[in-house]
Amino acid sequence: MCIQARGAAGAGAEQVLRRESPSGMRAPRPRDALKPVSDKFIKEEEKLDNFYIMRTPLTNPFQPGSDIVPDIWAGRAEQLADWRDVVRPRRHAGLYETGRTILGEPGTGKSSLVRRIARDAAASGDWVTPQLRIPSGADPLKIVASALLKLADRAGLVSSARTTVLDLLARVEQVAISGFALSVRSGDGQEPSSALFDLLVEVGLAAIRQDAVVVIHIDEVQNMTNEAALSQLLIALGDALVHTVEVDAPGAGPIESYLPIAVYLTGLPDFEDMAGARKGATFARRFRTTTLTAIDESDLREALRPLMTAGWTTQADDGALEPVRMSSAAVAAVVALCCGEPYLFQLAGQRAWNAGAGPEVSQDDVLAGWRGASSEAAAHVERILNRLPRREREFVDAMTALPPAERNITRIAQEMGMTSATQVGPFSQRLDTVRGIISRGKQYSFRNRAVEAYLTTDWPQVD
Ligand SMILES: Nc1ncnc2c1ncn2[C@@H]1O[C@H](COP(=O)(O)OP(=O)(O)O)[C@@H](O)[C@H]1O
Ligand SMILES: [Mg+2]
Repeated sequence: MCIQARGAAGAGAEQVLRRESPSGMRAPRPRDALKPVSDKFIKEEEKLDNFYIMRTPLTNPFQPGSDIVPDIWAGRAEQLADWRDVVRPRRHAGLYETGRTILGEPGTGKSSLVRRIARDAAASGDWVTPQLRIPSGADPLKIVASALLKLADRAGLVSSARTTVLDLLARVEQVAISGFALSVRSGDGQEPSSALFDLLVEVGLAAIRQDAVVVIHIDEVQNMTNEAALSQLLIALGDALVHTVEVDAPGAGPIESYLPIAVYLTGLPDFEDMAGARKGATFARRFRTTTLTAIDESDLREALRPLMTAGWTTQADDGALEPVRMSSAAVAAVVALCCGEPYLFQLAGQRAWNAGAGPEVSQDDVLAGWRGASSEAAAHVERILNRLPRREREFVDAMTALPPAERNITRIAQEMGMTSATQVGPFSQRLDTVRGIISRGKQYSFRNRAVEAYLTTDWPQVD
């Protein structure tokens, strides 16, 4: 797992001196030899002739963090195609398609994925809620009601002359203010879910008229711990997904049509138990769950290819463009170190970029940057491990204690001190299907390679 450092340190600066500019301009000088760009005394022709190396934290395209659609995007082609080729066209055509639930351990890129889908949808004219993050213990009905009111505004419903619509907006405003408490108070059979559902239908009808698709993204859904509020919300969304209206199809007369509404729920795998157990078959029919796991190495390499070839174009204050490249050894090092984890991929890239100022990110930069980030990398894996219930953690530990060739269910059970393999079945199943941490089969293996590396090697340390 560990990568041997190779190449002379400081080569970057020398390269700066020797390097030919791609556009035939004068080769750039080392950074500290440059005059400040804003210097009023630089003559005009000097400004045009010189261009400045802009490999700084400011131009860094890597973005570790949460809830970010990163500039350097890798993989997830299947999920992006699912939106582009299935969910959007089907709901747009009035056909049924379930909502999507995208679950995964922290840092697997759930929020980024749906934010990207929503961003692309908004850019092509669809009506999109922002990412509706549910803070722990918050009332999701208030949050969703507020977002629906904004969509209603976008749909032009707020200026409607119909009193039924205005009454409906007033009902949803009440939900936005009081949330779940409304259902307890009102006692008139008017549950918050029915107000939300009614408004979803109105927004959906307006979307049909204006040829848009409505996208609703609710994030951190595992934080909806109020069972009754969660149930109200899932009923409103689920009912809107299965609701049909009559629309006039040119030449075919009135036809039954589903509303152009797409719902994405994202969060930790714990949501599967919460929603699955409580809502049972209805929830399962109306939402399809995908568990995100690591990104393939080939997808990560592909994502970094533009940095290797054309380079990442950075712009100096004076408007000159300067590409920063990444060596192929640096790309290989980033891909190896991050173990397929999107967060670690961004972290390794970010630190490598910041480890030098030359026009090429070298393997040394990757290793130097990673050394400074190894505690963050370890913390990332610990966050995943520490969330595991005791038995699942024991299962993972038992797996790592065995040589890969001996990781079968019987040996793992023995290692855990169990007498039969069936006793450990439920833990291994959850680690596989719910969390995406292991892969079951005749032989068991790790799908989360960062967890494996952390428990079985020196990773994230590098020599
Ligand atoms: N497909 C991707 N390619 C590259 N980086 C990604 C991708 N998806 C997510 N990331 C990065 O991973 C980090 C965690 O993403 P995030 O969506 O917040 O994870 P989650 O919501 O699953 O906790 C962010 O820094 C983000 O930029
Ligand atoms: Mg997230």
